Amino acid sequence: MKSNNGKKMKMGGSNFFVEVALLCLILFPIYGLAERPLRIGKGGSFKILQVADMHYGDGKTTPCEDVFPSQMATCSDLNTTAFIKRMILAEKPDLIVFTGDNIFGYDVTDAAKSLEAAFAPAIASNIPWAAVLGNHDQESALSREGVMKHIVKLKNTLSLVNPVEVHVIDGFGNYNVEVGGVKGSSFENKSVLNLYFLDSGDYSTIPSIPGYGWIKPSQQFWFERTSKRLQRAYMAKPEAQKGPAPGIAYFHIPLPEFSSFDSTNFTGVKQEGISSASVNSGFFTTMVSAGDVKAVFTGHDHLNDFCGELTGIQLCYAGGFGYHAYGKAGWARRARVVVVNLEKMEKGGWGAVKSIKTWKRLDDQHLTAIDGHVLWSKSSAGTRRKKQIGGT
Ligand SMILES: *[C@@H]1O[C@H](CO)[C@@H](O)[C@H](O)[C@H]1NC(C)=O
Ligand SMILES: *[C@@H]1O[C@H](CO)[C@@H](O)[C@H](O)[C@H]1NC(C)=O
Ligand SMILES: *[C@@H]1O[C@H](CO)[C@@H](O)[C@H](O)[C@H]1NC(C)=O
Repeated sequence: MKSNNGKKMKMGGSNFFVEVALLCLILFPIYGLAERPLRIGKGGSFKILQVADMHYGDGKTTPCEDVFPSQMATCSDLNTTAFIKRMILAEKPDLIVFTGDNIFGYDVTDAAKSLEAAFAPAIASNIPWAAVLGNHDQESALSREGVMKHIVKLKNTLSLVNPVEVHVIDGFGNYNVEVGGVKGSSFENKSVLNLYFLDSGDYSTIPSIPGYGWIKPSQQFWFERTSKRLQRAYMAKPEAQKGPAPGIAYFHIPLPEFSSFDSTNFTGVKQEGISSASVNSGFFTTMVSAGDVKAVFTGHDHLNDFCGELTGIQLCYAGGFGYHAYGKAGWARRARVVVVNLEKMEKGGWGAVKSIKTWKRLDDQHLTAIDGHVLWSKSSAGTRRKKQIGGT
């Protein structure tokens, strides 16, 4: 066997390697899509449900926080579970994203069991799901690495502990997911929507810097490289596109730039301060210069649920979801929905992403939808550019 192989290699010569390398280059985008099997359906739209801050504990024995005293006796983690089930039934999302503080480690007896219970409705729905870590997920017996390693073993998850192509990266739960164009359309071999998931850490480990963690240079390098690779593929033949496919980033802790807004320029509410890291690690600037990310979705501050636009990127909170998480009695727990619509082509069939819209739903009797608005659209981005050019 050994000598046989050696013979073959010699006979194939360097051409063999060139061919393999070329084949890998050609197949990589397709292989990528085959490996992460998300694709926009025949209806030309793709819907993502974001669940922020479940703070799941032990289940029915874990009490609720910040509900009216009269509600305490009948309220537990099971209300969080019931809310996810109702959201899944009402919205029928194509993907469910959990943006950290999935469990509240401090009050958890068995982290693995708690994670399984927290994600159970997503798993039972057979809808693909992805999760990142918050600052509370590791507070029980499992470390951040341990939590992420457990998550990736659960059914139907697209989560990864870290990207396979990177040897050294800070944190656990940095990965990307490509969403392919409609099967049978001219975009079937392209990723028309790129999702980035990052670990925003827990707390600073540097004594002179207090407060929460941040997205480190190693993670930003990985994001930049991934964004470049995806843009190159999208803008290459066949169907070479002029601009990048839109990207969306999900992580837990808001960036310092979330403080750039007030009620005159955001949709939603701000009822508490922005609990970002006390330093700015530059991830916002990195995303602006990469040029593909149109929206960022975080959790962490349960009483803020706004979206505001800064230099072409929408910065959005989901608002608190879980009942064992701080909140405000009388201010309903909520979830954020994002829907991406494709452009209808002249000959029929679906093209690139045309718009990204969002709304929230409240955990009330009718799952009331609020604050619906357009986050990004191909035409408005074009119009804005024209206007700016015209004005200067
Ligand atoms: C929690 O769920 C129970 C059982 O369905 C229900 O009676 C109660 O009203 C819920 N509590 C809240 C605060 O939604
Ligand atoms: C996508 O790739 C498949 C497999 O290589 C090929 O058969 C198909 O024609 C490609 N579609 C387009 C629109 O290029
Ligand atoms: C929002 O409006 C306030 C003034 O009300 C202004 O200071 C701030 O720069 C605006 N933010 C953005 C991102 O436009």
